[in-house]
Amino acid sequence: MPEAEFTPAAGRFLPTSAYDRLLALLTREATWRARLLAALGPKPGERILDVGSGTGSLAILIKQMEPQAIVVGLDPDPDARRIAAAKAEAAGVEIEWLAGFARDAANFGLFDKIVSSLVFHQVPLAEKSAGIEAMFKAARPGGRILIADYAMQRSWLMRQAFKIVQSADGRTNTQPNADGFLERELARICGRPLDASWGLDTPTGRISMFNATLASR
Ligand SMILES: C[S@@+](CC[C@H](N)C(=O)[O-])C[C@H]1O[C@@H](n2cnc3c(N)ncnc32)[C@H](O)[C@@H]1O
Repeated sequence: MPEAEFTPAAGRFLPTSAYDRLLALLTREATWRARLLAALGPKPGERILDVGSGTGSLAILIKQMEPQAIVVGLDPDPDARRIAAAKAEAAGVEIEWLAGFARDAANFGLFDKIVSSLVFHQVPLAEKSAGIEAMFKAARPGGRILIADYAMQRSWLMRQAFKIVQSADGRTNTQPNADGFLERELARICGRPLDASWGLDTPTGRISMFNATLASR
């Protein structure tokens, strides 16, 4: 997939510079980021990869929570990486920002934890599968994979709310998530159903978190 072929952070019609304000307004961001961070529980010395790191908010919070962790962000969008780097510099934290797609996640060595937030709902089907598989390949034995995203939208209300995301990111990439693609793909890769460990109804649809731990060798 060439670098230009991705949906940017704020969707097809708005600049990436608008993303942080939109997210705060439309996703109950403080609540789901806090829950994701608590579940991630970064420890000193851990290598942590943020796939689709966007404007860097999550990676920066991880590094602030555990300054001794080695945090790496991966995103195909140069604009997003530029904003992320400026935010990290302003926050006084050191994070490596890599260029690449989710499918490249296994190309940078093994990580203790691999996390992704609000990425897979806006990527093509083949990239959802290849990206999630690469996240599992990038984890060391005993490592963990955490994905927070718009997944199955079960209620009528949340399906209506998710239409806001669908109008920004396009129906082709987003509808499979609303119909349960993430749940089915994670079950296929894990060889068993992987229930969401929590879900949060937001003005733009339900955000779910999936948490998998690889077997230690
Ligand atoms: C909605 S933003 C989420 C950003 C960040 N994870 C957060 O929680 O704020 C989605 C990000 O995924 C990136 N992206 C789009 N297609 C991607 C792909 N195939 N692989 C990895 N990242 C991708 C976009 O550039 C964008 O920065």
